[in-house]
Amino acid sequence: MALAEYFGMQHAVLIGSATDGLTLAIHKLCADRNGAILTCGHGFVAQIMASHRIQKPVILVDCTLETGQIDTNHVEACLRKNDIACLYVASLHGIAAPLTDLRRLADQYGIPMIEDFAQSAGASCEKGLVGTYGNLSVTSIYPTKPLAGIATGGAILTNHTDHADWCRRGRFFGLDAGYANEPLVHARMSELSAGAALRGLSYFETLRYEREQLFKRYQQHLDTTFHGPRALPQDGSAYHHYIIYVKNRDNIRKQLQQKSIGTGTYFPVTLLEHQMSLGHIETFEEIPNCYFHAKHNLALPLWEGLTEAQIDYICETVLKIAEPA
Ligand SMILES: Cc1ncc(COP(=O)(O)O)c(C=O)c1O
Repeated sequence: MALAEYFGMQHAVLIGSATDGLTLAIHKLCADRNGAILTCGHGFVAQIMASHRIQKPVILVDCTLETGQIDTNHVEACLRKNDIACLYVASLHGIAAPLTDLRRLADQYGIPMIEDFAQSAGASCEKGLVGTYGNLSVTSIYPTKPLAGIATGGAILTNHTDHADWCRRGRFFGLDAGYANEPLVHARMSELSAGAALRGLSYFETLRYEREQLFKRYQQHLDTTFHGPRALPQDGSAYHHYIIYVKNRDNIRKQLQQKSIGTGTYFPVTLLEHQMSLGHIETFEEIPNCYFHAKHNLALPLWEGLTEAQIDYICETVLKIAEPA
């Protein structure tokens, strides 16, 4: 209830993980529709795992390098030429996907939109909060995510009462429906995790503000030399990742590790490269930006509790050894 209120939505259904929530969302909105699931080639593997669980084909489009988010023009071109069951939009790195435009396109083509805001709870697109644009919007609640919890968990937001009821039934073997012919997943969130998630909500804004200060310090030092995905000026960020594009990324990571600076990559391969294990995936035209992002993205440490002196040390070291891609 508190979560739904925070986002100004009618329903929040707590769930065992975002991946389970996405599986239910895709099942509810796409299983009975013809066509493929349209999503971006840059993203987390859960994006296609959920589609794979209901054996739906996936079509990948490109991202933009300015924001690291799905490219609206590419989505529009793909919708014109393909039979699409639903639009799956992930807002990544703490940044909002172009949700206003994508919502308009989904409505224009009469298809549902699923939001995955596991990495961007707290971000906003123009005036609306990320998580409020999808027919079903799913987030992760996990210690390292913007919406923190104590264990794996997630939530589904929606304004559709029947969708919310269906997800509540579906999350625990369909038991509440008396073993009805519905997807049977074991994806409850425990009462203990739900309590911790509720407590986490009271720190949500404070922690976002702390990350914002650290993010801005990185920007002061590095944004004139390196580029990386950034929120548009009219949007609000959740400051989840600070990413720059560098040459010889993997080598730079090793050198930084030797200087006690741990880094990440989100993500080192495109979703197309997961198709060996998951199948049913193709791209709509080329996705060069997704490949560029996968090859060059370097995420620098960004979590509450880092000091300004630590950020300064990281930046000095990066400026000495890394070159912009
Ligand atoms: C964009 C995105 N979607 C979905 C997930 C899956 O979240 P969960 O671990 O709660 O299933 C993640 C996890 O990192 C993610 O980054």
